Amino acid sequence: MLALHSRAIFKYVYASALFSVCILLFVTALVGQESNSANSATVNHRVEELLKNMTLEEKIGQLNQVSAANFLNPPNREELIEKGEIGSFLWSVDPVQLDRYQHLAVEKSRLHIPLLFGYDVIHGFRTVFPVPIAMAASWDPRVPEKAQSFAAREARASGINWTFGPMVDIARDARWGRIVEGAGEDPYLGAAMARAQVRGFQGPQLGTADHVLATVKHFAGYGAAEGGRDYDSVYLPETSLRNVYLQPFKAAVDAGVGSLMSAYMDLNDVPAGGNHWLLHDVLREEWGFQGFVVTDALTTNDLIIHGFAKNESDAAYRAVSAGVNVDMASRILAGQLGSLIRNGKITVAQIDDAVRPVLAVKIRMGLFEHPYTDLSKTSAVLSDPAAREYSRIAAQRSMVLLRNENHTLPLSKKVSSIAVIGPLANDGTDLDGGWGVDGETPAVTVEAGLRSKLPGATIAFARGGEIRRTIPSRFDDFLPGGKKTPPQSAEEISKEIEEAVALAKKSEVSVLVLGETANMSGEYASRSTLELPGRQQELLEKIVAVGKPVALVIVSGRPLNMSWANAHVPAILMAWQPGSEAGNAIADILFADANPGGKLPVSWPRGAGQEPLYYSHNVTQYPESDPMYRSRYWEGPSTPLYPFGFGLSYTTFSIADLRLSKTELKAGDSLEATATVTNTGASGGDEVVQLYIHQRAGSTSRPIRELKGFERVALQPGETKTVHFTLGKKELTYWSEAHKSWVEEPEEFDVWVGNSSTANLHTAFRVLE
Ligand code: NOJ
Repeated sequence: MLALHSRAIFKYVYASALFSVCILLFVTALVGQESNSANSATVNHRVEELLKNMTLEEKIGQLNQVSAANFLNPPNREELIEKGEIGSFLWSVDPVQLDRYQHLAVEKSRLHIPLLFGYDVIHGFRTVFPVPIAMAASWDPRVPEKAQSFAAREARASGINWTFGPMVDIARDARWGRIVEGAGEDPYLGAAMARAQVRGFQGPQLGTADHVLATVKHFAGYGAAEGGRDYDSVYLPETSLRNVYLQPFKAAVDAGVGSLMSAYMDLNDVPAGGNHWLLHDVLREEWGFQGFVVTDALTTNDLIIHGFAKNESDAAYRAVSAGVNVDMASRILAGQLGSLIRNGKITVAQIDDAVRPVLAVKIRMGLFEHPYTDLSKTSAVLSDPAAREYSRIAAQRSMVLLRNENHTLPLSKKVSSIAVIGPLANDGTDLDGGWGVDGETPAVTVEAGLRSKLPGATIAFARGGEIRRTIPSRFDDFLPGGKKTPPQSAEEISKEIEEAVALAKKSEVSVLVLGETANMSGEYASRSTLELPGRQQELLEKIVAVGKPVALVIVSGRPLNMSWANAHVPAILMAWQPGSEAGNAIADILFADANPGGKLPVSWPRGAGQEPLYYSHNVTQYPESDPMYRSRYWEGPSTPLYPFGFGLSYTTFSIADLRLSKTELKAGDSLEATATVTNTGASGGDEVVQLYIHQRAGSTSRPIRELKGFERVALQPGETKTVHFTLGKKELTYWSEAHKSWVEEPEEFDVWVGNSSTANLHTAFRVLE
């Protein structure tokens, strides 16, 4: 990655401010385009006018995305920009470089078509927000919306106008490393988080100032990789695809997302990046997607690796025929499309179809009028404290209290000494989580957060041994977080564990921060077990054996095996990877300056052997609710350790008075479900009221429960609120394998409302013939 050099920015900023203004005026006059609020007819007209004047090479250029980082990049980038043979770049966060490229494209290329600059702005840019799965755990779509809008602002101020997010892949297997990047296992929650992130990145419409073009990815089914192994094949029947995996994508498309990224893997034996059914039939024909499709990095080449395409020419043919618009980094479209046209395999009309949405997005983004970044504002935007303040709130709202026996938490502010123990307690990069950018703010460590919370207390840190991947990640060399020092020996780790035990003995309370480093989840970071890596389990057991109060804080991008901890550690807080304000937000929760209100967006397994595990499975022979058949396994429960939707608070709530506005309705009509939620405890806090349904019979079996509504409600002690949910065609329709179509069936439905997927406040209604 190219580093974000702030000194260079400052220098450049002042030198170029005046020049930028002049050039802006010049380009606006030169291009003479209408304003960005142009309607579709105007946009289409402008696209056709451009197309009329474009050479074949210039058209193919719009489909060509190349690397701006110092790997995989063509040496003659500047010449190619001037010739109009590059449409977009990726992998650079250097505002000066991006600005130079944009000036070349707009001022030196024949048709002055601006460039798109893409980057993985996944959960922050300079300011880091909690990882996406954490933000989903807030069960509050305003959290990712606001966080992504801050991220967009920082990225845009640095010259980036396109993010490769949101990632909306449903993940039902915690072994899959990329579970951290999405919103978990559920299509309804996933769709809500997808919409929120699209709004956050793009603003109310494409072209909103201080926002960026969003990319919904990875289309589709990537999260169902066999065995949770990243990139492995996916086999999903149409019923799972349509009812589950495609739902968040559809939500993002309906929310106006401007681009979509195809996935790497084979879907039912057809690579997603060459899958006509996905990219054309579903996306364009059924959903009417107006944006453009970008492949994942090098995916066009993967079509050959998969044994699908014969060679580069065939790969280009298959990608474009399937519906790909932009080729990320492989440069195969740029290299092959000319000869495919000359050989009559592909028509110019097909190329025009591929180019249209790319130009349309650039027009709708307002890039022709405002191609440049005002670098005089970059440093002010990147140091705006508002982003950090919100990062702290987002982190607080994302944390999930999993266990709290005997009111171990919150800790008393009168505590005189705290042992802060664990390999993650003091590492700002790991607390930030993956997808780091050089130049992002390292997170406030837990030790630092506790020190500023309790300046008068004795706070000491002991690592208790390092942790690291057994097999290094191929990304370790160029992303922050990869450990480059030689590994610790077993003796060194034992010594650190003993030091930690000694520290716990002389402290009043221990805060143990265990879990995974940033590079242990994310891309190329799948696992075959969910145990605490390294010797953290031993460390945990030894600290608990000291017999002093212990609070366990888990820092990771996925659920880990907490079966022992759940039986022996009184307090467990899932902090995820909280971002820039990690230590402060963790301290806020531990000392009740914020009350935990997050809920799990995934079913938390007892171990890897249970995966894939999700609440919304079908009812099968010998249901688990039958005491005779408690478990699918003979050696232990098949239920999760903590269910989907679960999370504790420092206060208590009661949810009651579940009522339906009617118990019978015609297909197409809707009813209202209401319930009251009361804070029955002594402190203010948030509860997430969740509504689940079950269709009792139908043309196919339906899941035991499906989430169809939720609301996070803040309540003061004694306060009651009524929560309203609508159940209508949208919630009751599903894709039936029997009919091969969407159906709303005249059947009976169960309804449950509560604070997790095991809610038991029940009623029922019927949809009439
Ligand atoms: C590969 C990843 O799968 C994708 O999510 C990312 O956006 C691209 N690389 C670009 O970095």
